[in-house]
Amino acid sequence: MKKSVLVLGLAALFFASCGEKKKEEVKKEVETTVETAKEEVKEAVVDNVELGKKLFTDKTCATCHQPDTKVIGPSIKDINKVYSEQNGNIVKFLKGESPAIVDTDPGQVAIMKANLDSFVKDLTGDELAALSAYMRSIK
Ligand code: HEC
Repeated sequence: MKKSVLVLGLAALFFASCGEKKKEEVKKEVETTVETAKEEVKEAVVDNVELGKKLFTDKTCATCHQPDTKVIGPSIKDINKVYSEQNGNIVKFLKGESPAIVDTDPGQVAIMKANLDSFVKDLTGDELAALSAYMRSIK
């Protein structure tokens, strides 16, 4: 009787330690997966900003929007400032779903609106998100 209890006890101990080891392994695996995912997200964000930067030039945004100075449109920094303060959404603005909040002068709004109606409407959601990511990366 005593012997079998001892055997049972040892077996339990054995399985328990096995379980511990498994847990450690699983924990390590999860941590590695999370780290890899984080790296991938970081790379995706960088890629997105790079794509946005390219689109900003290719799609002529840069002719009217400079990082620091007002050219025809407000500077990117001025746009960022207002969008941060008012918790605005650049993608929504570019989709024509939210009104202008940076420069509300009707003449100015009409200039930007002409872009939205002509070529910005043909950009994909991903391209708009990339443009927004690039603009917001200008600090
Ligand atoms: C022909 C000049 C011109 C071009 C090209 C142009 N913009 Fe604009 N943009 C303006 C003007 C003018 C305003 C100011 C009016 C306004 O705020 O809507 C403006 C405003 C904006 C705003 C602020 C909107 C707000 O809430 O007031 C954003 C964001 C913006 N432009 C993004 C872009 C992007 C992205 C592109 C390229 C796809 C682009 N613009 C191309 C002239 C231009």
